[in-house]
Amino acid sequence: MATPIEKPSILLIVGGGVAAYKSLELIRLLRKAEMEVRVVLTGAGAQFVTPLSLASLSGAKVYEDLFSLTDETEMGHIQLSRQADLVVIAPATADLLAKAAQGLANDLASTLLLASDKAALAAPAMNWRMWTHPATRRNLAVLREDGMIFVGPDDGPMACGEQGPGRMAEPEAIFAAINAALNRAQNPVDLLTGKKIVVTAGPTHEPIDPVRYIANRSSGKQGFAIARAAREAGAEVILISGPVALEAPEGVSLVRVETARQMAAAAEAALPCDLFIAAAAVADWRVESDAGQKIKKTGGGLPTLHLVENPDILAEVAQRAAGRPPLVVGFAAETEHLLDHARKKRLRKGCDLIVANDVSENAGVMGGDENTLVLVSAEGETTWPRLGKDEAARRLIGHLAQILAWREAP
Ligand code: C5P
Repeated sequence: MATPIEKPSILLIVGGGVAAYKSLELIRLLRKAEMEVRVVLTGAGAQFVTPLSLASLSGAKVYEDLFSLTDETEMGHIQLSRQADLVVIAPATADLLAKAAQGLANDLASTLLLASDKAALAAPAMNWRMWTHPATRRNLAVLREDGMIFVGPDDGPMACGEQGPGRMAEPEAIFAAINAALNRAQNPVDLLTGKKIVVTAGPTHEPIDPVRYIANRSSGKQGFAIARAAREAGAEVILISGPVALEAPEGVSLVRVETARQMAAAAEAALPCDLFIAAAAVADWRVESDAGQKIKKTGGGLPTLHLVENPDILAEVAQRAAGRPPLVVGFAAETEHLLDHARKKRLRKGCDLIVANDVSENAGVMGGDENTLVLVSAEGETTWPRLGKDEAARRLIGHLAQILAWREAP
């Protein structure tokens, strides 16, 4: 593998789409990671974001015109394309992709793409009908063949009011893809430095008697991956886990518990925090009074287990009157009516975001290594593609870091 470039230079082409506002955040992430960013704004892109915003965030001149005399004398378009380590197109509109696939060079963006000798990474953004149109599919196949790398699009509600694949990937996902393309570590920036994060994970075991217990199939893999990703992003992480066969991720404080009540007490003790993520599959019920001794088979009939409800850790944290963490995230593992259940659950628990996943048997999520996550917030839903649990965790942490940053922004 090639050595990572110390201070990579990114040529960012901002196309015309509502998602262009997300490119402002992308520039912020790139600059924070000490990358140099030069922005090319297409005519359509300028309808959505201003050159001034882009110049302020990138700290450099924004290029718009192929035939600008001043630009050409300062830095010609060939030089502009050559000095970049990676060309990034975000948003990559259907039009930009079509031009690139055809090799057209009738404006600055398309000319740069044709003149470039570097890899190009595109974050497509368009209406789902445009994305699934045979013409776009053909263009994508050609561009992939030519070596273009793609990140996204995501599936979810669109600015036009329709729903489907075509939403531009979130800035931190594009940022991660840029790092991957440049052979840099996935999470080099300290997105969460100075933040404290509490994660619950794994199942709980609810004793019936000293040798028997009620449990579930949670492996804890997703929660542990989230804790690891948060630590890699610079956070102080307390991971509270029920019984699992996993080692503590490096640098993470692991509190091992058995029952829901122990998990609730550990969560309470871990507060305050900036972000609370409830990924545990907490048992909803426990046996009211577990037998002090092993229950014996007697001839006198079957034992009756009287169940009582366990504390709802997520709801208690999310509904705290004082000291509620600024961002509280829950999970919804469902086997049917995923979205409907997740939306209702978010309201019932009082958390900011529900990460829903399909755990029906054919989805192979429970104990498996992959997950398809749907993020349900007050703003709507976004479906991410099926990802490895580590990758899904990194993406989730990036997304949550961004929400925290937005909330803190003046
Ligand atoms: O109600 P349900 O168990 O489906 O909700 C799932 C979400 O609530 C998960 O985030 C889980 O960690 C959390 N939860 C909890 N305490 C419970 C039950 C669920 O924190 N007793």
